[in-house]
Amino acid sequence: MPVILVVDDEPLQRDILKTILDSEGYETHTAASGKEALAIAGNIQPDVVLTDLRMEGMDGIELLEAIPRKPVEPSIIIITAHGTISSAVEAVRKGAFDYLTKPLDKDSLLLNVRRAVERSFLLKENIQLQKELFKKFNIEGIIGKSPKMQKATDVMKKVAPSTVTVLIRGESGTGKELVAKAIHYNSLRRTRPFTAINCAAIPDNLFESELFGYEAGAFTGALSRKEGLFRITDTGTLFLDEIGDLSLPMQSKLLRTLQDKEIRRVGGKEAIKVDVRIIAATNKDLEKELSTGNFREDLYYRLRVVNIELPPLRERVEDVPELAIYFMNKYNREFGKRITGIEPAALKALSEYHWPGNIRQFETVIERAILMNDKNVITVGDIRNELWSGELKTSFNFDIPDEGLDFENLEKELMKKALAKANGIATKAARLLGMSYKTFLYRLEKFHLNGYSTKKNE
Ligand SMILES: Nc1ncnc2c1ncn2[C@@H]1O[C@H](COP(=O)(O)OP(=O)(O)OP(=O)(O)O)[C@@H](O)[C@H]1O
Ligand SMILES: [Mg+2]
Repeated sequence: MPVILVVDDEPLQRDILKTILDSEGYETHTAASGKEALAIAGNIQPDVVLTDLRMEGMDGIELLEAIPRKPVEPSIIIITAHGTISSAVEAVRKGAFDYLTKPLDKDSLLLNVRRAVERSFLLKENIQLQKELFKKFNIEGIIGKSPKMQKATDVMKKVAPSTVTVLIRGESGTGKELVAKAIHYNSLRRTRPFTAINCAAIPDNLFESELFGYEAGAFTGALSRKEGLFRITDTGTLFLDEIGDLSLPMQSKLLRTLQDKEIRRVGGKEAIKVDVRIIAATNKDLEKELSTGNFREDLYYRLRVVNIELPPLRERVEDVPELAIYFMNKYNREFGKRITGIEPAALKALSEYHWPGNIRQFETVIERAILMNDKNVITVGDIRNELWSGELKTSFNFDIPDEGLDFENLEKELMKKALAKANGIATKAARLLGMSYKTFLYRLEKFHLNGYSTKKNE
């Protein structure tokens, strides 16, 4: 129930307001002076404070300035007598939500209070969401006690509070984006925007307008001005993902922006100052890209003021047990399961695997092992099943499990997967498996898989 605090030194006015607000379902408290209001505000934590402007002792504006804004900020409505509008305007300038003039009209009173409550609730919700973000992207929450990971988190803690540019490097799925967010949400910019753009996924012309925005008429279809990411992210952090894939012309545009700290919209002349912290990431060998001339050296040095190397999972197997428990708890919660542990042999299998997709792949394996599990521990069999079916999708670099495998079954699964990938087109599936169409058909018959093939040809 929204909590309202009515402050007025006239008992009659207080009572009228309380009666009206109570009957609307608000929890209404009253105070006869600013001092009394301050004394109870901490306990009742009002969503809205409705205060008279002119009072003996502390007036409405003084109360407005003194009222605690933490843990939540109340919306303050000032009530003024006719003829003191200028003080009301001053009050709004000092942060009051709105003002009402006497004599009070019941409808506009209730409308104002409702809006003020909405604002306070939104503020509360924002604070809650922010808290969740800060918790989710806490540097301490990044799993890994191995020396290589510790080194990375030490650097993160050191650089987070500053605005220094950071280059994060690591194979796919090693946590580059997670680290970028952790740096932002542990920086002084944490309440400011964090935005991300994938440099590999966007063609140059679009990329430019995405980053810098455009003016109306800059190109066909540019009907009105649009702000780009640099503007949207002003005073926040911009994450440039897959920076190694940025084209040379875009590299030089980006470099200029970083040097001048200003942008121009596409089709615009005006230079606009921007204050954006850059965090970039890549899984490419940038030094190699430098030597082949695919990456500008000056941009490279500008980006790698601080360099964070995220080790592949196979180089930090010490972290496997902690990661396994972490994801086990996560997916227990998510799927409402009660799996209590992971067999030592399963942990061993997880540690010995080479993890080409790193933590992302690791997470998926645990997720599926939990989902499929109807016992209360994860066994080595669960893990092998998951690793094995994952492997089929990615590469053939897999070991034959100790308990052996069923070759015919494997062949059958491969054919089904090929057919699924080829949308049921048999000739295409045969090609995917490097088989002649005739051999493929023969096997379809043999394994009774005809139903999986919807047509022979495109
Ligand atoms: N140390 C870690 N602790 C917990 N979760 C992690 C850790 N590292 C990565 N993850 C999780 O693994 C997944 C992949 O991480 P992320 O997307 O940051 O990787 P990436 O390096 O950006 O990958 P890609 O190169 O494929 O874009 C995410 O769900 C992330 O939360
Ligand atoms: Mg990523």
